[in-house]
Amino acid sequence: MVFRDDALTGKAILVTGGGGGLGREIAQALSALGAQVYICGRRQALLTEAAEAISAQTGGRVVPHACDIRDADAVDVMIAEIWRDTPLTGLVNNAAANFISPTKDLSARGFRAITSTVMDGSFHATLSCGKRWINQGIKGSVVSNLVTWVWTGSAFVVPSAMAKSALHAMTMSLAAEWGPYGIRLNATAPGPFPTPEAWEKLNPLPDTKSSATSCDTIPMRRFGEIPELTNLVAFLLSDACAFLTGQTIAIDGGQHLAAPSTFADLTILTDDQWRAAREAIEASTSRSKAAQNGDNPA
Ligand code: HXC
Repeated sequence: MVFRDDALTGKAILVTGGGGGLGREIAQALSALGAQVYICGRRQALLTEAAEAISAQTGGRVVPHACDIRDADAVDVMIAEIWRDTPLTGLVNNAAANFISPTKDLSARGFRAITSTVMDGSFHATLSCGKRWINQGIKGSVVSNLVTWVWTGSAFVVPSAMAKSALHAMTMSLAAEWGPYGIRLNATAPGPFPTPEAWEKLNPLPDTKSSATSCDTIPMRRFGEIPELTNLVAFLLSDACAFLTGQTIAIDGGQHLAAPSTFADLTILTDDQWRAAREAIEASTSRSKAAQNGDNPA
């Protein structure tokens, strides 16, 4: 542990998509540093299990809220409920949807499945917190979990690249607009930090890997380790950097500076390979949905 274990004592922080993947790891790290943590996501059972497990591990209070952040009204109801419990001091925009696909094969619904969660959902949560912080004079802090494609774009994940770039713009824009209120907005741009659910959607074919999800192109020759990312998020939410705002900080072992760290190299895939990739992604999505409904998929 590189921080004092009370580094975030007195903070109350919401992590969107906090029931699984990187969001859960971030929630656990913030709780271990003394923050009161709220997690939200679409899957109630997953959230409840995560909240109990994190609490048991850290001894902190972790409160789950089932909420689809794509719905602005639902977000505002959740934030109001959290505020009645404790006014938030921080927000982590972590919830994300993504899968690789040729853009020509995307439907409007496929595009919205990604952008409505990443861009709209993060904006709804940021606005709902920001209004309250401004009205109540709270110097809140927002950290959005982005990608290095905000600087380069990326083939085959175009809705994600567009939505994450929009949040990069939001981070810079609101840092200026809300700076006078003492509200800070920053973002992380991780390279590959593999988690099972995300990797099933980004690496669906076992023998075909893109440089975006490979460590061969990373100067440090390894994937990121999750505490390295959670340490950065904790630092950005802490009072250690009260003058730091409007920044998107890459944490990728130098990958985007040294080599293409996008999915552009997948232009070599054949139509048959893309069909197989889509089938694998859809099977992964079905498994997640079955788990969400408590079913036992055959
Ligand atoms: C084309 C596809 C598709 C595919 C789904 N769709 N998969 N289109 N290719 N492979 C289309 C469907 O056909 C449908 O459109 C539309 O998308 C919505 O499908 P649903 O299954 O109803 O969507 P939904 O359940 O809302 O969301 C599915 C999901 C989501 C987007 C896959 O479950 C998801 O992203 N889960 C993963 C969460 C996750 O791991 N997040 C972390 C991302 S990591 P039609 O028109 O047919 O109805 C990240 C950073 C990566 O973003 C950094 C790497 C370095």
